[in-house]
Amino acid sequence: MAALLLLGCLLGGAARRDGPSMPSAAARRDGNSMPGAAALYERKIYSIDRSWRFSLCEDDACAQGSPASCPEGAWCAASLDDDAWRRVDVPHDFVVEGTFNNESDMAHGYLPFGVGLYRKALAVSAAEAKAIRDGSLVAHVEFDGAQTSTTAYLNGSLLGSHGSGYTPFRFPLSGARADALAAGAVLAARVDATRPDGWWYDGGGIYRHARLLLTPATHLSVLGGAYLPSTVAGPVEAGVADAIVSPRIAVASTSPTAEPFEVTVTVAEAATGRVVGTASAKGATTPPVGAGANFTTLDLPPVTVARAALWSPESPFLYDVTVEVATAASHDVTTHAIGVREVTWKADSGLWLNGAPYKIRGTANHQDFAGVGVAVPDALQAFRVRKLKSMGANAWRTAHNAPTPALLDACDAEGMLVWDETHRNGNPGEQTRLVLRDRNHPSVVIWSICNEKLCETNDTLGDGRAAAALYRELDPSFARAVSANYNPWRPPDYPGDVVGIDYATNTYDAEHAKNASMPFISSETSSAVSDRGEYASDAVAAHVAGYDTTAPSWGEVAEDAWGGVGEADAQGILTRPFISGGFTWTGFDYKGEPTPYSWPNVNSHFGILDIAGFEKDRFYYYQSVFKPEPMVHLFPHWNWAVEEKGAHLAECAGLCAGSAVEVWAFTNGHSAELTVNGVSKGAKLVPALGHVQWTVDYAPGTVAVVVRDAQNATVASDAVETTGPAAALRLSFKDGVGAGGVDADCGVALVQVEVVDAEGRVVPTADANVTLASSAALRFIGGGNGDPSEHTADKSASRPAFHGLLLGVFEATGGAAAAATVTATAAGVDAAELDVAIVESDAATYWCPRYPAL
Ligand code: GAL
Repeated sequence: MAALLLLGCLLGGAARRDGPSMPSAAARRDGNSMPGAAALYERKIYSIDRSWRFSLCEDDACAQGSPASCPEGAWCAASLDDDAWRRVDVPHDFVVEGTFNNESDMAHGYLPFGVGLYRKALAVSAAEAKAIRDGSLVAHVEFDGAQTSTTAYLNGSLLGSHGSGYTPFRFPLSGARADALAAGAVLAARVDATRPDGWWYDGGGIYRHARLLLTPATHLSVLGGAYLPSTVAGPVEAGVADAIVSPRIAVASTSPTAEPFEVTVTVAEAATGRVVGTASAKGATTPPVGAGANFTTLDLPPVTVARAALWSPESPFLYDVTVEVATAASHDVTTHAIGVREVTWKADSGLWLNGAPYKIRGTANHQDFAGVGVAVPDALQAFRVRKLKSMGANAWRTAHNAPTPALLDACDAEGMLVWDETHRNGNPGEQTRLVLRDRNHPSVVIWSICNEKLCETNDTLGDGRAAAALYRELDPSFARAVSANYNPWRPPDYPGDVVGIDYATNTYDAEHAKNASMPFISSETSSAVSDRGEYASDAVAAHVAGYDTTAPSWGEVAEDAWGGVGEADAQGILTRPFISGGFTWTGFDYKGEPTPYSWPNVNSHFGILDIAGFEKDRFYYYQSVFKPEPMVHLFPHWNWAVEEKGAHLAECAGLCAGSAVEVWAFTNGHSAELTVNGVSKGAKLVPALGHVQWTVDYAPGTVAVVVRDAQNATVASDAVETTGPAAALRLSFKDGVGAGGVDADCGVALVQVEVVDAEGRVVPTADANVTLASSAALRFIGGGNGDPSEHTADKSASRPAFHGLLLGVFEATGGAAAAATVTATAAGVDAAELDVAIVESDAATYWCPRYPAL
């Protein structure tokens, strides 16, 4: 026994960097556990993100394809010398490393597809190998996602394949592989991105996290073993209510003999660790028949949480649930973030959250971001969620696919409702993976059956019904609705619970009148297009004007779709209580689908924010109607070459009639008064949910707006000045990301470059070619300027500013505290520097679980 205890200590503690003092409650997802006093075999999670060798398949290696076993010298054979291969860390997107060219597929952003080969050395300790060999530990390699189809090998022998770019997958490493793992094995993966799923940018490669997972023979099932739905059990008062958590726990076991076990569930406040309830139950495993595990599912006694703090986007209160599965030989502990919220849907008033009507102010988003493609660092997910929240958004649709877990963690923690989507129906395997993985997230309130043409199967309605039934079977108790972005389904033949209307805002009243007993939602809307800093559409440069005036035939500009302003038959989402809310296509620009143009455009114009996260003018329309705080945003810029000419002045062609320029303000004030160089151009009442505009003669200087409330008190103002020529660069942390220090393990710094004049004003026409560099402790991982026609490679550290701005994304290189500097240089303007502190931390966060690395 003494020997076993020693072994248990080795297995439980040796490779942990977080140490025994770290509260397990701090890990937001299933995390490494604290060894209990008598713990023997315990769960271990190793990150295998770092130090892969990578080769883009260009030759024979590719021709060798995915053999059942790798011949000597093949790309997947253990013996191959891969020293010359490039070293990469995952998440990694190799498609975004390509060169834009108009021979490549438009829908995917004119970047070449490809096949990527990855290799990584994997080694476990002798004690772990022994336990894997004798079946005391069960090993899996797991991937959160790889684009688009993956075949993996260990030391040249096949582990398995996975054919979808968006769903997670894992391969078991049987006891027979223990010797190889002890000696140091080669994990090799061929990731084929030549047949992408979508009509948008899918990217390519191991673009989400990868791990080696060791569990005791009897453990919480890795297939969503903890189902932790909660219900509100009493009246809601000021965001507090009595609640019940009803744990359903699936225990998996590969033990050849029946093993008694005890499951204990502990619910604690995530922020304080204060325990608010526990439950436990005993059971016994049954030995598996054949390979794989056997499962025992227990419904534990409900845990009552008195006066639970409810979760909402405005108050994202989380509890940590620790699940312990203990046997005489093992102790498997995991921690899961949950939130308690009451969700109901009413036909006449839409979504109710925690006892009150709640409008969904959502955006749909694809996955990619400037510089990094789909390999988005977790810290950047948090930025994306926060940015949309700052606009007043409270919901995110994961168009059109299973999201990365890091996004859902960010939505739980930051407060954002989620419409969680599979990318096609008629595929129960993928759907099951999605639900088992995501069903504890309080942020997820809608399961989506499918989207538009991704719904088209041989039996669309039958498959839709089967998909809805599967959601209800796998997630019977957490008050989620099923919906679809698909107009051919209408009541009474509607397979879901909430009817999704795809665009077609002018049908709301008629649809509601016909189907007054079902709740509705605008599953997708607007698709307005605009570019930051552009004020006349230009088919040659492929830019769209930044006013909210352009949308494709199936869509509408923002104020029609949401405000019902403008078109006579527009029935704005915000004006119809029976529409639960909506999802604007899209929050951020993304690569591919460059509607309404093609080359030279390489990314969409749909975003409210550009692909680098800079606000387009439309951002402020949404802010004006989504948020109550008084605000006003005035545009366009005031650098027009009407009489005077100069590099810093924009040609007025297509915009100015003579010297007349259209000036718009987005505001939620009552009235707005415009002045040009101090001379009033008149006060106007602001139309409800609309904008106010003037046509004025351009004169260089200052255009300003003052907004007043109904009592004529000034509540907000904005002004735009004519700037001088570009004189200098200025660096700052975009939206503060990195300002408090960049986490050495998982942090990012978003470095914003502004091209400014002698007085420090951003020059809205500036396109200086800026080169970013950093000291050794920081690594540039990509950049962007938000121009949908930008052809500079995302990985290039030099690129032109677009309307005076560009962004560089940096991460730490060394895993240790350090001081670093970013410099920006460009011809003809003063250079700039930014000090960046790299900070070390042991605290696990939802965007940095700090698993020990292999
Ligand atoms: C929708 C579709 C989206 C995107 C959008 C562009 O119909 O669901 O994927 O293509 O149109 O407007």
